[in-house]
Formats: sequence, structure tokens, C-alpha cells
Amino acid sequence: MKRLIVLASGSGSNLQALIDAPDPSWRIALVVSNKPSGALRRAEASRIPALYLPLASRADASARERYDRQLAAIVEQFSPDLIVLAGWMLILSSAFLDRFPDRVINTHPALLPDDGGLVVACSAGAVPALRGAHAVRDALAVGLPVTGATVHFVTEQYDTGPVIAREETPILSGDTESSLHERIKLIEHRLLPLAAARVLASMDETGNCEAGVGERHE
Ligand code: GRF
Repeated sequence: MKRLIVLASGSGSNLQALIDAPDPSWRIALVVSNKPSGALRRAEASRIPALYLPLASRADASARERYDRQLAAIVEQFSPDLIVLAGWMLILSSAFLDRFPDRVINTHPALLPDDGGLVVACSAGAVPALRGAHAVRDALAVGLPVTGATVHFVTEQYDTGPVIAREETPILSGDTESSLHERIKLIEHRLLPLAAARVLASMDETGNCEAGVGERHE
């Protein structure tokens, strides 16, 4: 059985979707949160090892790098096959990512393109790729007709890594940030376990992904 580690800062509904996934080919070996979050409470309720690892200061670059090294050292001890960012609100630096090449995936609450570019093709034509922490708010502010969710590999350029799965939802008149985000989360709850299973299934014995999963299409 494959081993997943989930990093989550928020309410943990995506973590819950991974916990509740039917017949998963994995077990969650550890949940880490940088906040005293709902995600930690959900892990504890499911008797999954859970660690609260607060970050002292986002502003101090050397503290930030120390944090990523410490996080990587802890995660490494649990021998993960895959690390899933499920609402992890810290950008991971190379101090972390270099230790786990092709093994870190993220769910993002907007449509992201296959080519890492500035626009994404969808049913409404080409729309801007909304990156960063406020993608739901930005979709409403820009007045997009559709948005969605994307699961992708994590690279140092945040929210640009190869796409594993993506799905649209229309933006309805009267949508608020909260109503839209709840609808997007319903998609994420379906997409994230499927994407994790797909990546794990594509790994050979060495843990490397076979071509085709999250391949960059340029
Ligand atoms: C998700 O929408 C995720 O894409 C975003 O933060 C949200 C986390 O939700 N980065 P939850 O904590 O899993 O409920």
C-alpha cells in the first residue's frame, strides 16, 4: 500500500475527501499543518498521525528556508510515495521540493493551463489563468463566465506545474466568493483522490512517474 503525506493549512475538507476515498490504493501516513487547523482535527479524528508545525515568520527568508528543510526532514522519515498539498498556504521552496522530485501535487481552486502560460482554454474560450491565494475572489472580480479546479504537480514556479486533472464550473449570477468556493471544493473533493490514485498508479518500482501523467504540453 502506497504512503501519502498531506500538508494542509485550512478546514481540511480536501483532506477528508482523501480519507474517505473509496478503496484507496494508499494510506495517509502523516498530516502536517502550519496552523492549528480543522485539517489537524480531522486527522486526529481519523487516528492519522498529525503534526502542527508553525512558521515563525513568513518575512524572514532564512527562517523560511529553515522551515522547509525541517519540514522535508520530517516528511522524509515517513517515506512518502506522494505528498499532497490540500489547501497548504505556504509556497514551498527548492529546500523542500528538491528532496521529493515529481512527488508533490497540489489542488488549486481555478483553471490552470497545460503549458504553464497566462491563459487557459475552456468552454468559454481562453480565460486568464488565476494563480495565487485569491483565485476564487479574482475569478469574480475579473467577471469570468467559468472557473474550476486543477490538480497539478508542484514546481518552484507556483501554480504552473504540469496538470494532472482539471474541471470547470460556471460562475452563476449572485455567486459570492463563499458560494463559488464551496462549488469548486465539491469538484476538488472528487478530482484530488482521482489524481492522487492516477499518479500513484503510474509510478514504477523506483517511484518515478511514467510519461503521460502530468506531462507538459507545449
Ligand atoms: C481549497 O479550495 C484549495 O484549493 C485552496 O484552499 C482550499 C482548502 O480547502 N488552496 P480545505 O481546507 O480543504 O477545505
